[in-house]
Amino acid sequence: MSITTVETQPIQGQKPGTSGLRKKTQVFMQRHYLENFAQAVFNAIGGAKGKTFVLGGDGRYFNDRAAQVILRMAAANGAKKVIVGQGALLSTPAASNLIRINKTDGGLIMSASHNPGGPDEDFGIKFNAANGGPAPESLTDKIFAETENISEYKMMEGHDIDLDAPGTTKLGDMEVEVVDPVADYAAMMEKLFDFDAIGQMIAGGFRIRFDAMCAITGPYAVEILENRLGAPRGTVVNRIPLPDFGGMHPDPNPVWAKQLMDEMWSAEAPDFGAASDGDGDRNMIVGRETYVSPSDSLAILAAHADSAPGYKDGLSGVARSMPTSQAVDRVAAKKGLDCFETPTGWKFFGNLMDAGHVNLCGEESFGTGSDHVREKDGLWAVLMWLNILAARKSSVGDLLAGHWKEYGRNYYSRHDFEGLDTAKATAMLDDLKGRLTGLKGSEIEGMTVAHADDFAYTDPVDGSVSKGQGIRIVFEDGSRIVMRLSGTGTTGATLRVYLERYVAGPDGLDRDAQEALAPVIRAAHQLADIERHTGRSEPDVIT
Ligand code: G1P
Ligand code: ZN
Repeated sequence: MSITTVETQPIQGQKPGTSGLRKKTQVFMQRHYLENFAQAVFNAIGGAKGKTFVLGGDGRYFNDRAAQVILRMAAANGAKKVIVGQGALLSTPAASNLIRINKTDGGLIMSASHNPGGPDEDFGIKFNAANGGPAPESLTDKIFAETENISEYKMMEGHDIDLDAPGTTKLGDMEVEVVDPVADYAAMMEKLFDFDAIGQMIAGGFRIRFDAMCAITGPYAVEILENRLGAPRGTVVNRIPLPDFGGMHPDPNPVWAKQLMDEMWSAEAPDFGAASDGDGDRNMIVGRETYVSPSDSLAILAAHADSAPGYKDGLSGVARSMPTSQAVDRVAAKKGLDCFETPTGWKFFGNLMDAGHVNLCGEESFGTGSDHVREKDGLWAVLMWLNILAARKSSVGDLLAGHWKEYGRNYYSRHDFEGLDTAKATAMLDDLKGRLTGLKGSEIEGMTVAHADDFAYTDPVDGSVSKGQGIRIVFEDGSRIVMRLSGTGTTGATLRVYLERYVAGPDGLDRDAQEALAPVIRAAHQLADIERHTGRSEPDVIT
């Protein structure tokens, strides 16, 4: 087998976003596109020589081809070994776990997360470092710089490697170990959670519906929920991962997981519903006629994590992304836990977890996880919920209502305006940024602005500073508006408007969220003048 050095030129726009490089699949399939980026990753980490990596993806269209290319390039760059999920499949949290338990030098994950897949949809690649977590900004900056200077990449010529059966083969001098994508992950879950208690609850008639949305969590959920915990076959629906996710938009929220929501509001609704996304790191939790917002879910997990064996000694601290509601802050305050506020994106939690400051993190975007890996973890959140419900012998609805009664309720919603003209959306936020300092003390919709800024974060562990992480406008009554542009989209700009309002109770805790938030929503539109700048008066997606 021969190694060739292929001449290439920089390709514009290979800048990793909130979570790796994401582009239209057709873009990734262009000549040199994937190769340039993979070589840039290897260059940015100081070469692949002698290193061991993990490789896998969410099974979307082009996953199998991309895996073969990356393997050949890893071999050509002198890597010692690559551990690959069977069929080139791995959920993001399972990949993070494999990176950690095998003490590898990192891993390449092929996924565009919750974005649709297929020849005309999205593809993506991200590099995770040796701690199992997404590459920090310092590294993604280096990768981007490499893509801008690249002139050649290394490729091993040869046949495709058989990735369909577990076992070890060689590609040139490089070892390729194909592993069961589920086994190590499922074993870890059994250590963290009380499978006996959850199993007994299920045996006692507790019914679950898990919607894998034709994405990667199907095999994981079948093994854990059905095979190990004894839930009846059929508990996991849309269980076979498909290259186009069966045409589904594998984003677990009330809009895209409508099938599950309808089921949970039907006469035969099970006790517990959950869904996960394309690569298995997101989760949505639903009870019978009860939607649990991700921010509330995080707060509830913080309140009851010690029900689970893996967390029985309590939490070391918690962290949430800045736009996530402040519900978890209230639990942290009551329990005397440190509570950190980070920019959007899981990569910012890595340092806090590595340093032992926190072991529960969450984002409003349906992401929750702990330090068992360095990614958010959809099934982990589902099992944590099941463990808590089994321990407390409670329904989802009662647990949520009890939580609001104790802590008050942070009404919360996110409004997304998609496919905006990037220049116009940027101009709108720039305009608002220019007015922030003057906002303090002004009154709008009966609320007085207490504080307004463009969020900047100083990492308490390494001192690195991340600026421009979202505009926040906080009112004296604790209500809050946050605005930022998405860093994961592939077409135009997506404006995210995050809305929050706190009600202490005991009255007014079970209103419709949009209704309760109405004044805050109106204030957001007025402050940014969304319609004048973008021509849109209504969001495309409300979660
Ligand atoms: C979105 C979410 C963010 C999450 C990221 C990756 O990023 O808002 O919380 O970490 O996806 O799943 P955004 O598109 O807002 O940049
Ligand atoms: Zn994801």
